[in-house]
Amino acid sequence: MNMTSSYDKTHALHAAEHVDPARLIGAIDALATIGARSDGGVDRPALSALDIEARRTLIERAQTLGCTVTTDACANLFFRRAGDEDLPPVMTGSHIDTQPTGGRLDGAYGVLAGFECLAALADAGVRTRRPLEVAIWTNEEGSRFQPGAMGSSTFVDPARLDGFRTVRDAAGVTFGATLDAHRTAFPALDTRAPQHAHAFIELHIEQGPLLELADTPLGVVTGIQGVRWHSVRCMGAAAHAGTTPMAVRRDAMTLAVRVRGAIEACALALGGDAARITFGSWNIEPNSINTIPSTVTFTVDFRHPDPAVLARFDAALKNCLAPHGADVRLEPLFEHAPVHFADTAIARVHEACDALGARSQPIVSGAFHDALHLAKVCATAMIFVPSRGGISHNPLEATDDADLVLGTRALAHCLVELCNEAR
Ligand code: GLV
Ligand code: MN
Ligand code: MN
Repeated sequence: MNMTSSYDKTHALHAAEHVDPARLIGAIDALATIGARSDGGVDRPALSALDIEARRTLIERAQTLGCTVTTDACANLFFRRAGDEDLPPVMTGSHIDTQPTGGRLDGAYGVLAGFECLAALADAGVRTRRPLEVAIWTNEEGSRFQPGAMGSSTFVDPARLDGFRTVRDAAGVTFGATLDAHRTAFPALDTRAPQHAHAFIELHIEQGPLLELADTPLGVVTGIQGVRWHSVRCMGAAAHAGTTPMAVRRDAMTLAVRVRGAIEACALALGGDAARITFGSWNIEPNSINTIPSTVTFTVDFRHPDPAVLARFDAALKNCLAPHGADVRLEPLFEHAPVHFADTAIARVHEACDALGARSQPIVSGAFHDALHLAKVCATAMIFVPSRGGISHNPLEATDDADLVLGTRALAHCLVELCNEAR
């Protein structure tokens, strides 16, 4: 097919039309086999052997598409399709690490839709002014190493990497050691310095119920709500379960459950219906049926779209813990203010939905994403497709194929328009 050389409005539609449903769904199915769970979900921890295997398959695919593949100091991968001019690229992509009970789409969809756009542009013979880059961001989920989104946050603020390298997973392996192993696994990849991006568009499943309830196939994501992550450590004393009278025990679990209840009540009182409070990870020592727990450590994940509520929560949390003195210790793990995406990038997403004749609606993301960090350095926005039953971080996570295809067409349209921007 002849390559067209001028940049006109028809190219974006042309690229969108070349999105191939069978190729897209086939790529999603294939990636889901790497780390497949017996219940249909995926368990592919960040920088595990499975993650490396998945990365290897995508590096090979990118090379067959004629892309240049590079990495950086945080093991992010960049798959670049050249543009006609040496300008900062338009980026897309997401992550391929999963939750332990992950689905097939969270993150993987955004990466594979990015690959589908690379293939569709090639099939359509569409050239772009700017390079187009698909990124795989390292450790977005934060379930193996905390905090999440290490790759994208390091991309925008490289100074964070030193602190991340010493973080350990549950088995005691440092994040730094896994970065070194990634380097060894892919010795031929060039490591590049941080680069400026023109724009970043992340396509993702909604992971909540709003689009499905509204029967709207595309969400124009205007921003991401704010988040606080903490670890709370409650101390007691190990003692015999059968002999220690109730009145004299120092049971760390009794204390932890009381503290958990107080934090939840605070969060709901401050945040109302929009509050999201989760205590998802618990560690009990010595974790034995007939010994009173000596230490219980649990995590707090609080989210809200209003920065004033998040600030009030920070103060209230300290007040909740204060009465327990040295028996309860708080360790902040991660925080981020709510983000509003760039109006110019939001407009491009909206324009893409309209150009495809697809219904869309504005939506604020309840989950955080790599786009949260990219928004600090370039015009950023996201596209959502519906999640069946609003379910995610669960093997049942699913989206209708037609919606997956439509989201990818909207992404292709948006990327081509952004790639052809002169400034
Ligand atoms: C990302 O998975 C999040 O916790 O929002
Ligand atoms: Mn995700
Ligand atoms: Mn996730």
